[in-house]
Amino acid sequence: MALTGRRILLGITGGIAAYKAAELTRLLVKAGAEVRVAMTEAASRFVGAATMQALSGQPVWTDLWDDRVKDAMGHIELSRDRELILIAPASADFMAKLAHGLADDLLSTLCIARRCPLMVAPAMNVEMWQNAATTRNVETLRADGVHVVGPASGGQACGEMGMGRMTEPADILADVQFFFQPKALAGRRVLVTAGPTEEPVDPVRVLTNTSSGKMGYAVARAAREAGAEVTLISGPVALPTPVGVTRVDVRTARDMFEAVKRDAQHADIFISVAAVADYRVKNPAAQKIKKANGHLSLELEENPDILAWVAALPKPPFCVGFAAESENLAQNARAKLAKKKLPMIVGNLAQEALGRDDSAITLYDAQGEHPLGRGSKLELARKLVEQVAGRLPPRK
Ligand code: C5P
Repeated sequence: MALTGRRILLGITGGIAAYKAAELTRLLVKAGAEVRVAMTEAASRFVGAATMQALSGQPVWTDLWDDRVKDAMGHIELSRDRELILIAPASADFMAKLAHGLADDLLSTLCIARRCPLMVAPAMNVEMWQNAATTRNVETLRADGVHVVGPASGGQACGEMGMGRMTEPADILADVQFFFQPKALAGRRVLVTAGPTEEPVDPVRVLTNTSSGKMGYAVARAAREAGAEVTLISGPVALPTPVGVTRVDVRTARDMFEAVKRDAQHADIFISVAAVADYRVKNPAAQKIKKANGHLSLELEENPDILAWVAALPKPPFCVGFAAESENLAQNARAKLAKKKLPMIVGNLAQEALGRDDSAITLYDAQGEHPLGRGSKLELARKLVEQVAGRLPPRK
């Protein structure tokens, strides 16, 4: 997506990753954005103002007392005509300042005086990222509506491994592009289920599956990015809640069914990504089952089909199912589309999707099949949301 004419203030703070801000500027300018750069004093020790000036094609600002600005209040004007302030890299120190509203240099003053949204791409050593104060500050920023991009995990300049690397410039660009994208689901309510369910066998054992919840969480995030009000009903997973999404935690398929029943009537769209256990143990043992010689049999009974129930409501939301198959994908996905009476189903091969960060998906509907290709689950979720938005009946 082009960023033609988008007015961005890129703030650079002190850290090794500041050199990546040069590449980020190049990408933003190439996409058509008009980029004004402001740097902290510390940032200018890592990357030169001349480099940033050449890449942005504009004067670079560092000093609160710069005499290129005519009056003392003029500095604030540097952020007034902006549509977005992007801080990349954002150091631990700068995020602490943002979280507490400090304004003791040009960039922090521009941030506190802004009228536009703020996006930050943290970059720091893993210990600094995990420090309790940083965690608190990031939470505060998120609660204040600041978009936090990353950080990523991997090798660090200090030689350590872990969370804290700045998200790569191309990925930050993608986030900026999504930020400026028209909001296709504004005013719509979306209900998403995600993750596995757990069916108790006894007080300490469960029947479950290898779903990580990553796809469902990506779908919830993509729907939120598209402007929807999103409720995510989640089985047990170890994933952070996407910003702005309401999350309801459940354990068993029946818990999930109850939670879905409460929300389905109000939803415009239901995207059922959860790998719901088809069966539960008929009589879970009240006490831990002891090992006995020989074999153990468990009697299973069928769980309710949550998606089929929602699709059969008198006025159902637009229902999207997921079919994770180990073979004959098209045939099995089509059979589910018909059986559950869905307008759309997403097919993927279980061995290419379960637990992984990427996948390859194909949409099936009455018109035929639409491959969305391979990519990260977030990329695919965004494409899926776009497809769903394009098929919605017009608003009453
Ligand atoms: O029939 P199958 O389990 O393969 O169908 C998969 C689709 O149905 C998924 O969208 C899944 O979330 C949903 N489903 C459900 N309740 C079940 C089983 C599956 O909502 N008990």
